Amino acid sequence: MAQINDHYLKLQAGYLFPEIARRVNAFCEANPDAAVIKMGIGDVTQPLAPAIVKAMHEAVDEMANAETFRGYGPEQGYPFLREAIAKNDFQDRGIDVSADEIFVSDGSKCDSGNLLDIFGSDNVIAVLDPVYPVYVDTNVMAGHTGPADENGRYGKLVYMPVTAETNFEPAIPDQHVDLIYLCYPNNPTGTVASRETLTKWVEYAKEHDAIIFYDAAYEGFVSDPDVPRSIFEIPGARDVAIELRSFSKTAGFTGTRCAFTVIPKTLMGKTSDGQEKDIHSLWNRRHCTKFNGVSYPVQRGAAAAYSDEGKAQVQELVSFYMNNARLLREGLEAAGLEVFGGVNAPYVWVKTPDGISSWDFFDQLLEKSHIVGTPGSGFGAAGEGYFRLSAFNSLENTQTAIERIQKSLAVSS
Ligand code: MLT
Repeated sequence: MAQINDHYLKLQAGYLFPEIARRVNAFCEANPDAAVIKMGIGDVTQPLAPAIVKAMHEAVDEMANAETFRGYGPEQGYPFLREAIAKNDFQDRGIDVSADEIFVSDGSKCDSGNLLDIFGSDNVIAVLDPVYPVYVDTNVMAGHTGPADENGRYGKLVYMPVTAETNFEPAIPDQHVDLIYLCYPNNPTGTVASRETLTKWVEYAKEHDAIIFYDAAYEGFVSDPDVPRSIFEIPGARDVAIELRSFSKTAGFTGTRCAFTVIPKTLMGKTSDGQEKDIHSLWNRRHCTKFNGVSYPVQRGAAAAYSDEGKAQVQELVSFYMNNARLLREGLEAAGLEVFGGVNAPYVWVKTPDGISSWDFFDQLLEKSHIVGTPGSGFGAAGEGYFRLSAFNSLENTQTAIERIQKSLAVSS
């Protein structure tokens, strides 16, 4: 009989979002008339921007013609997209990233897990708590952790709690770590990191020869000019960081699939016998072996997000969701809840009322208000007592959800 990867058996319950979907489906089956509003998973609701749709249509037409048809593209992404990314997201903002340091992919979630292929198994790994569950689960799958304890925390991982008590600022570890996962604007708390905070992380990483996996999938939602949108805005970050970016949330590509990872050529790791080795060429080797690139029409669509028209239309989408975030924040505060995030990020992070548990609040909202959110404890032990609501929805649903929550809290108080 073939042997399985035993590490999978250490994983706690299901992946968070399928688990929520299971509970919601059971509720809907039992209550077929309930008009459930889903504010759980951060999935976009608005259609693709017209400039993107046009570029994708044109690309499909090219594929329909023998003269312009394309087969396999470059695994790392077409130059037209890599150059548009390098120019618009980095160089025009004074950030030193070149097109050949960009690897186009089908998603940041996939990249964050796949990156572990090129790192050894003895690294000490630090994550925030609460955390985007993929960072943890992929390390469990790769055998980088011990089993989970009664709080769901895995052995060998270094957890850095972020709660209202510490203003959602993780303490820099007082021990050595090799890999650090940071996500800003943060999923799930919707909070951001200041330039000073990121500078401390870069300094720590330099001192410890550590590498930061910087997930900036939500950078497009930052409106405060003082908040960094890229780790590479911080001097020295090119020597210590990998950045993950996505078209999913900003350009509405959750179903279209396009993202990219930036690996500076100056970033080094070390072999088991202590030799320096650049990470860029290792990732290139991995990418070319296991991935055949994102489809041509999708890359054309992503590139159109950088045209003048595309930029304006994508900004409209971002503003649309951020208006929902503002309404949520204000509406929940008016209902007497303590609310965090939602200013430079499309998530609001709410303290549950009267100290009830995250899953109890989940059940209460679902049963009384027919609203689905995400229990904070699903993101980690330090998320207990919090709840996440996503601004990715229609305006009408957002307004209805706020009214229902206000009503249900007024009744129960
Ligand atoms: C979330 O809700 O946290 C995200 O949609 C998950 C993801 O982007 O994979």
